[in-house]
Amino acid sequence: MRIGVLTGGGDCPGLNAIIEAIVKRAASYGYEVLGFLRGYAGLINGEYKRLTVEDVSGIALTGGTILGTSRVNPFKRENGPQKVLDNVKKCGVDALTIIGGDDTLGAAYKLYNMGLPIVGVPKTIDNDVSETDYSVGFLTAIETISESIERLHTTAKSHERVIIVEIMGRYAGWLTLFGGLAGGAHIILVPEKSFKIEEICSIILEREKSGKKYTIVAVAEGAKPENVSDFITLCRERDEFGHVRLGGIAKLLEREIAERTGKETRSVVLGHVQRGGRPCAFDKVLGIRLGFRAVDLVKEGKFGHMVCLKGSKIVAVKMESALKQKRLDEEMMQLINFFNKS
Ligand code: F6P
Repeated sequence: MRIGVLTGGGDCPGLNAIIEAIVKRAASYGYEVLGFLRGYAGLINGEYKRLTVEDVSGIALTGGTILGTSRVNPFKRENGPQKVLDNVKKCGVDALTIIGGDDTLGAAYKLYNMGLPIVGVPKTIDNDVSETDYSVGFLTAIETISESIERLHTTAKSHERVIIVEIMGRYAGWLTLFGGLAGGAHIILVPEKSFKIEEICSIILEREKSGKKYTIVAVAEGAKPENVSDFITLCRERDEFGHVRLGGIAKLLEREIAERTGKETRSVVLGHVQRGGRPCAFDKVLGIRLGFRAVDLVKEGKFGHMVCLKGSKIVAVKMESALKQKRLDEEMMQLINFFNKS
């Protein structure tokens, strides 16, 4: 048996833990592993390297992905799907383990429907893949975010300023909510609910009246002011999955809040710092558990499934049920409303 593996979409901490576990579990069954390079680009162009236990020993401790990644979409490349099918055949690959977020897994599901034996593994700092309680990378990212926000308290307090922190998350506010709560942000703005700039300004001025001279606002890059239908962006560039590059909401708020409240206001964009660095202990363990189980699904012939964390167990779910994006639910939105008002 020969298993192919690839990492697609944005990188995140914990990918190498998944790869290490896949290679080691596969070796325990006497299977070979081919790592396709730069996401789907490697499958389309037939670029891969053979991965041995020696190659991957200890990589679980490191960030990024040893295979490289990209936002290449096989369904947007000329003859992309056919090239994938041809390369899988040419390389003698019997099954693929595809590690990705909703876009990568969506393409994997289409390839599965074209006859490829595929098992999915969820990763993304955004934590917006359905079915799994957490996707690999999320918990490391919220550590980074909460630590960054915590650091901003001392400078915001010393200068009696408003600081707006822009956090990743296009459609889902998991990073902003968890990072914001853990970092002690005073106002949390997420893509799931549009906001009124006047209301934010009133909260800031109310805080001021009660002696709280500084405010930290955590805003998701995909959050929008009321009556604005388009995302706030810095450019019109789109990736192969149709997503425009986000950025600019913090700058917009900086201008508006300074003008309307008269308070000195600054903005900070956490950007790719949130995706970088080595994984936290939980992400390492989650990655290892998911990789291990993914190979077992291959052995059992359970294709068209994705491994995921439910409660404390790693289980298999049908890939199609994981394709709907996971957004903040009612309980989480109540928390946000409560914190924004207190
Ligand atoms: O991988 C998810 C993500 O980090 C999003 O939160 C963010 O909008 C996007 O990737 C940024 O993508 P890129 O690194 O391609 O600019």
